[in-house]
Amino acid sequence: MIDLRKLAEPGSIEETLLDRVDLKRLPRHVAVIMDGNGRWAKGRNLPRVEGHRAGIASVREIVETAARLELRVMTLYAFSVENWKRPRYEVATLMMLLKEYLRKELKTLMDNNIRFTAIGRVDGLDPSVQRELKYAENETAKNSGLLFQIALNYGGRAEIVDTVNRIMAVLREREMSDAQIDEQFFSDHLYTANIDDPDLLIRTSGELRVSNFLLWQIAYAEIHVTKVLWPDFRRRDLFEAIIDFQSRERRYGGVDESDAQMFIEADNQQS
Ligand code: FPP
Repeated sequence: MIDLRKLAEPGSIEETLLDRVDLKRLPRHVAVIMDGNGRWAKGRNLPRVEGHRAGIASVREIVETAARLELRVMTLYAFSVENWKRPRYEVATLMMLLKEYLRKELKTLMDNNIRFTAIGRVDGLDPSVQRELKYAENETAKNSGLLFQIALNYGGRAEIVDTVNRIMAVLREREMSDAQIDEQFFSDHLYTANIDDPDLLIRTSGELRVSNFLLWQIAYAEIHVTKVLWPDFRRRDLFEAIIDFQSRERRYGGVDESDAQMFIEADNQQS
């Protein structure tokens, strides 16, 4: 049962927005491209890394809100395969912030029944980062609430290539050289095997790109782009994204039911 008191103070903007959210039609999986940390810092004459540091507060609030809303999955894009091209100091700070976050936030993850996992080419990360990730994954493994996924050293194309390689290994092992691969089998070998695809993809800072994020999985996701920079993104912005999501008509390539009925009636009249 969702405890609304934990989501909005009486009389707050959050409460007004929450009133507009249909709690029975929440997205199951929300994925976020956290963008705009650098611009947030630049706007304050601060080094870029300060934007990332400030972004941690948004991560904390959004993950906790997702858990309280009882969403099933939240996936945050924290570090792409392309992000290695950034200055060494920035990469090192991002990794340090991640380790710090995992250490400090483990209690909050446990208190909120959140299961944590990392997706991406995790074995390409520094061993000290891998250790912290494993630790948080193991400690939270039995939690049954929100699944919080961080995409690290992640690329959508890299994931597809890794999936093809995994499938080839499976087929070799099972001696099935002439097997037919279908979409379900392919999905079952992605990093996100067994996890529903995102219903809602949020991108902050106004850019209209998917930036190599969950390319296979976002096939039917609704996309919400906000101009808000990630360090400013708060619970109310998540509520706004959900309200926007709920205003869309999801058809998965079909037509909506009333249109379908109209076509059936027209067909019947013609025949
Ligand atoms: C994009 O902003 C943001 C990132 C590349 C990193 C996001 C990381 C964090 C919020 C902190 C660490 C994360 C966790 C999950 C604890 P940008 O630097 O590309 O911004 P810009 O486009 O304005 O330059």
